Amino acid sequence: MPPIVSSSRRRFLQQAAVALAAQTPVARAFARQPSPPYALTRSAPFARELLIPPVMGGTLDATGVRHYHLDMAAGAQHLVADLLTPTWGYNGDYLGPTIRIPRGRPVHIRLRNGLHQSTTTHWHGAHVPGNMDGGPELLIGAGHYYDYHYTLRQPAATLWYHPHPDRRTGPHIYAGLAGMLWVDDGVDASLRLPHTYGVDDIPLIIQDRRLLADGRLAYMTHPHDVMGMKGNHILVNGREQPYWNAPAQWVRLRILNASNARVYNIGCADRRPFAVVASDAGLLEHGVPVRQILLAPAERVEILVDLRRDRGRSVVLQSDSRQVVPSLSANPADSDHLDRSVFPLLELRVGAARGTPGVLPARLVTVPPLIAHGATRHFVLRVKTMHRALKSVRHMKSPRSRSRLLGPGGMNMGTGGMDMFSINHEYMRMSVINVAVTRGQTEVWYVTNDSPMAHPFHYHGTSFQVMARNGKPPPDTERGWKDTVLVRRGETVKMIAPFHEPAGRELPFMYHCHILEHEDNGMMGQFTVTEV
Ligand code: C2O
Ligand code: CU
Ligand code: CU
Repeated sequence: MPPIVSSSRRRFLQQAAVALAAQTPVARAFARQPSPPYALTRSAPFARELLIPPVMGGTLDATGVRHYHLDMAAGAQHLVADLLTPTWGYNGDYLGPTIRIPRGRPVHIRLRNGLHQSTTTHWHGAHVPGNMDGGPELLIGAGHYYDYHYTLRQPAATLWYHPHPDRRTGPHIYAGLAGMLWVDDGVDASLRLPHTYGVDDIPLIIQDRRLLADGRLAYMTHPHDVMGMKGNHILVNGREQPYWNAPAQWVRLRILNASNARVYNIGCADRRPFAVVASDAGLLEHGVPVRQILLAPAERVEILVDLRRDRGRSVVLQSDSRQVVPSLSANPADSDHLDRSVFPLLELRVGAARGTPGVLPARLVTVPPLIAHGATRHFVLRVKTMHRALKSVRHMKSPRSRSRLLGPGGMNMGTGGMDMFSINHEYMRMSVINVAVTRGQTEVWYVTNDSPMAHPFHYHGTSFQVMARNGKPPPDTERGWKDTVLVRRGETVKMIAPFHEPAGRELPFMYHCHILEHEDNGMMGQFTVTEV
């Protein structure tokens, strides 16, 4: 039976259909973007030195609380040599400081929004309650601030922070808002892992950006971008393919894929093995030797590279995306030329050893096994075809309201809010709680990908362990704490996690795909963690 539609509603739908056929909201959004030429100038790789974000350790007060200040503001940065790009950043033009938080110590972070629009900041991977989590409900208005108070009791880990506003997370991170958050518990130092920031232990924030010829960021300038925004310039810590003066010793690279959508297959150009010592949310039980590691958006990996015999040489870190990345999607259009090639990320120019050299210990930490007690849940990821998605007019913002929200340099804010990507046939609605978890339980979650492309699935408020991929044990590099996992097409990933942090209906936690254009266009749900 056809659905009953009132005549005014029908008229609206007919008009909408006509409007869609002629000029879809997506097309309209693209039309506002100054049309290409894109920047084609590509600096020769390794022309500029790697920037290392300053570390922020906070200021200790008399009561034992550490205070940190973060200011979000507009700026400009030479992401690509010779081009000045209007950007957003935390305490600077682009990206933000590395926040170091000692485990078990109370912190206070005052986050000021100096932008001209509201946003939030979320502590990705941090075990904090819903009211400190910075999800979309915790919007901070332009010119306002929010005080986050929490104590991290989780193992040392390489976490990160980034905005999380409803439907605009993609453009806000793309504009430059992201930084690393290190939980420190001294275990790495006692294991004698390299741990001297900026010397033998460095953050590498990998991103891709598309720029216009005048240097401005181009976001959502092609209809296909809604499947996941990819750029043709590869940045590490906000600079295109830089070099780093590395010491001839074991170096620890804490790699974060902070790209909106691109997956990297990271390794050394000389194919030397290296050791994966940590996954997203903590150290592994032992270093896992590999030659390549796949890193999906929002995933982190800590690797130890042995440079002891490389003094005077150059070692190139690259992504060998061929084969691996294109095979993640059944649609060839989802892969661009970089996904089909090998491209450099960073050159390590190896000089003399510095400081106290670290080691790769045989054993690292114990990752405690978890025992399920509580609900088992199933999540199914689906993607609408572009054609069907364009019919989802109901939740599209009017072009007018969208036009008031422009990014740095007038950057288009994209098309967030379309019902294109679903979880259990549901699309993100701020007013809907999709799942209620009982606090204190340890739940098994199954995530099934019933779509033609891979999705990095993430949830807030805890860390999980991957139990199985399609019924088989996960690779050794995933046998530790994680908070984001790449679920390939046709795959079911089984995870287990304890839920201790509370989150009520007003400020719930999120689970979502971390391809930001998927998250912004429906592929997210909300859950509470409450006592029964
Ligand atoms: Cu990295 Cu819900 O976030
Ligand atoms: Cu998160
Ligand atoms: Cu996705």
